[in-house]
Order: sequence, then structure tokens, then C-alpha cells
Amino acid sequence: MVGDLLGWTDATARPLVDIALGHRIALLANALGPPPPDIVDAAHAIGVPVAALVGRADQARKQVEVGVDIVVAQGTEAGGHTGEVSTLVLVPEVVDAVAPKPVLAAGGIGSGRQAAAALALGAQGVWTGSIWLTTQEAMVMTSDVVRDKLLAATSRDTVRSRSLTGKTARLLRTEWTEAWEAEDSPGTLPMPLQFMLSADALQRIHRSGNEELVIMPVGQVVGRMNVVRPVAEVIDELVREFDETVAGLAGAG
Ligand SMILES: Cc1cc2nc3c(=O)[nH]c(=O)nc-3n(C[C@H](O)[C@H](O)[C@H](O)COP(=O)(O)O)c2cc1C
Repeated sequence: MVGDLLGWTDATARPLVDIALGHRIALLANALGPPPPDIVDAAHAIGVPVAALVGRADQARKQVEVGVDIVVAQGTEAGGHTGEVSTLVLVPEVVDAVAPKPVLAAGGIGSGRQAAAALALGAQGVWTGSIWLTTQEAMVMTSDVVRDKLLAATSRDTVRSRSLTGKTARLLRTEWTEAWEAEDSPGTLPMPLQFMLSADALQRIHRSGNEELVIMPVGQVVGRMNVVRPVAEVIDELVREFDETVAGLAGAG
């Protein structure tokens, strides 16, 4: 069963970390709570820095306590597992909570203007997810139905839902997310049980191409993902807009 394969328990995550640390990786990034200190030590022993995603300032402090090197402050706008605080509010809170540790801003960043704003908030850089979902390179693993839904979605077409994993994750709003919110819903199970329960059904839905039910984690920035483009073009535009924005702000001073 697909749900058994997930690295969301100590028993299933450790073998995955061992494989990752056996390769020449540049960073080990962790989410959903502080990593066990021995895993942080194992990464540091071979010179691999550890990053961690957080949605609250107190979570950021806990990550630094276990030795995390880079904190990713991810606002509620983000795709995937996400908390309640917006990026604009969260980033300065986290920057101040863990200074002088470097912080990357995440959640809702899809343009150079948003990246410049993140740096203005005190972040040292940005961490992005959703904007890559509609790149040409991503199309090898994206069905036509999902691609079309992503391109058509507005920034109001996502919802924080426990229906995928049992923890709140931002997903495209579909019949699946609506059914789990409905009055006659049995309610979701805690992680990791919800995904174990739903994984096989989700695979069948994915294969069927059923437009109403399809499941897709994505952030609010999906509203501006309206065309499939190569990664190089997305990066070029991001950097160009970032430079223009910073130059414009310097000129305004
Ligand atoms: C489809 C998808 C899958 C994701 N899976 C993971 C994951 O497995 N682990 C993780 O730490 N973050 C995951 N994320 C969150 C990203 O790492 C990132 O923090 C987030 O996408 C940033 O916000 P944005 O979507 O607004 O760019 C995922 C995001 C998306 C959109």
C-alpha cells in the first residue's frame, strides 16, 4: 500500500535519511517538527547543513535548539503542509526569534517583487515550491487534468485541508476537499493514518483523471501560474524583476 511507504514515522524516515546522506547532497531539509538530534549530528559530521520549515516563531526556536542551521519561515499562503500565519507577519517574527541564524522566506513567492519583499522583511533568501509545478520540466509527472486545473485556478481556489495527510495542507479546492469538509463527513484521522487510509483511493482517482476529485497541493500563488514555461524562463523573470524592484526602491530613497 502506498501509505506504508511514506517517511512520516521514525521507522520509515530513517532509511530515507540514510540514503540521502550517502549521496553528495548540499542540504538536508526537514518539516513537521524538529529532526532527531542524532540526524542533525550525522548531517553535520559530513558537512551537510540542515534546514527546517516552520510556521510559527516558537517552532523556529525549537529547531535552532536542536542544531538546525537554516530556518525556512513558511507562511500560510504556501502549498503543502502549512500553518495559519501569513508570510508577511511570520518572516520578521522568525527572523527576530532566531537571529543571527539565516532565515529563508517561503509561502506565496512567485515573482521578483515578492522575493524583494521577503528580503525587506529580514530574510536572507526565498524558498519556493508552487511556481515549479507549471514548468515544462514538471510536465513529465503532471497529468493534463492537473495541469489545466492549475493554469485555470485563481488565488482563491486553494484550501487548507486535513483530507490528504491528517495535518493541515494547502490544496486545490476540489470535490475531494469539499467532501471531507461536508456535514456528513466522518472527519479525518491524525497523521500518518489519514494518508494510509486514502492513499490507494487517491492513486485510483489520479489514474482515472477524474476532474472533480483530483488532489493537488499548491499555494495561493497558483493564481498567477497561468502558462506552462521552462524553468529557465521563470528564473530569468524572477531575477530581472527582483533587480528592477530593488533598483526602483533605491531610486525612491
Ligand atoms: C506539491 C508540493 C509538495 C510539497 N512537498 C513538500 C514536502 O514533501 N516536504 C516539505 O518540507 N515541503 C513540501 N512542500 C512545501 C515546499 O517545500 C515550500 O515550502 C512551499 O511550496 C513554499 O510555498 P509556495 O508553494 O507558496 O511557493 C511542498 C509544496 C508543494 C507545492
